[in-house]
Amino acid sequence: MATGRTIHNLALIGFMGCGKSTVGHMVARDLKFSFVDTDSLVEERAGISVAEIFRSEGESVFRKLEKEVISDLAGKQELVIATGGGAVLNPENFESLKTHALLVCLWAKAESIHERTKHQKHRPLLQREDPLGVIRQMLTEREPFYKQADVIVNTELRPQREVVAQVRHQFEESIKGTSGFAKD
Ligand code: S3P
Repeated sequence: MATGRTIHNLALIGFMGCGKSTVGHMVARDLKFSFVDTDSLVEERAGISVAEIFRSEGESVFRKLEKEVISDLAGKQELVIATGGGAVLNPENFESLKTHALLVCLWAKAESIHERTKHQKHRPLLQREDPLGVIRQMLTEREPFYKQADVIVNTELRPQREVVAQVRHQFEESIKGTSGFAKD
């Protein structure tokens, strides 16, 4: 059944540390789209960093702001959107993005995510005693949400430039011959 879905944008979803921002920037440059990052939009709105929001206001306030900025993206065009790793756990965020964006999930295994994030301090959910254990558990819990993406790109199997090319290719195929992509 057709849902009236028209694709004007590309949204990258997936766990922290899978390269959504880096890949997103590069794909946006290639497509001549603007790049937006929902964490940065939240920070602009709040006037403080994501880590500071978690610390001073709590995760629920962050999630409320995240939902607002995602909802505001509907109606925009020619955007590559990097979403925060927890954004699509809220079905309303998932459904909202799905109306206007191709959802591409960047996937990596827990050990690789740990390697990539272990020296970083800006992700409050990973500042824990056993980060690898936390990543394993969260990844297992979140996998069903991420796997609802239109396309899943495994970042383990290829260098970053190939990930970028693959994401771009998938998007271009989706909108081929249309002014947007109507998808069931
Ligand atoms: C989160 C991921 C972060 C940020 C916040 C919560 C999550 O974004 O939104 O710290 O729940 O996975 P990145 O995926 O860009 O690190």
